[in-house]
Amino acid sequence: MKKNLISTIAVDGPAASGKSTLGEHLAKTFNYTYLDTGVMYRAVTLAALNQSIDFDDEDRVSEIAESMELDVRRPSINDGRSNDIILDGQDVTWAIRSAEVERNVSKVSAYQRVRTAMTEQQRRIAKRGRIVMVGRDIGTVVLPEAEIKLYLEASVEERAHRRYLELINRGKAVTFEEILSDMVRRDQFDSTRAIAPLRPAEDAIIINSDHMNADQVYEYSCKIISAHCSN
Ligand code: CDP
Repeated sequence: MKKNLISTIAVDGPAASGKSTLGEHLAKTFNYTYLDTGVMYRAVTLAALNQSIDFDDEDRVSEIAESMELDVRRPSINDGRSNDIILDGQDVTWAIRSAEVERNVSKVSAYQRVRTAMTEQQRRIAKRGRIVMVGRDIGTVVLPEAEIKLYLEASVEERAHRRYLELINRGKAVTFEEILSDMVRRDQFDSTRAIAPLRPAEDAIIINSDHMNADQVYEYSCKIISAHCSN
């Protein structure tokens, strides 16, 4: 990739569509910064849980989003993590992946002030350039000027299957049925919310990975990026 031609790569899509795997791989290849914006919404949710805040209390949840100190650092432990996620001084890398966070994150991320606070931080980070940013609204709202916009999709059954295997491999006692129903609910919530709903940007390239493995999605994305650079 010719360095100066692309400053931002946006990768959006629903839960377990392979965004983080792809985003991380691309960032490593091109030596770009990688930011998974999902961890930010998960961190707000965890902070609200830790402080026993009612998730319906929009003002208090929003105050948390506006005041929490979140740091995403290079991984300090080799336990499968991509980054250290530090919330108010504590390592919450795995805590933000809990079922309780997962159940409540869509509600939290639909709040206007929460989104404004997160979007501001994401844009600030992107200003430094050379970034692969992954989320739901990166190509549509956060960085509409991104040079490359990829939108990953796959059937909900396929995505639930991937997430199920991921959790089983991490030693979690979950059933496929509960993962599937949670994913259907979260998809529905994320794509129908009034602010920054999950949808592909008009100029996004949509990649359906139902019949592609992670390597194939990566190869295909590299071709798209190379084609953009040689134009
Ligand atoms: O890993 P998974 O795809 O399941 O979820 P995630 O990317 O960690 O995002 C968790 C939740 O945060 C999503 O279900 C959305 O509700 C919210 N989110 C968002 O609203 N906007 C983003 N840019 C990223 C995540």
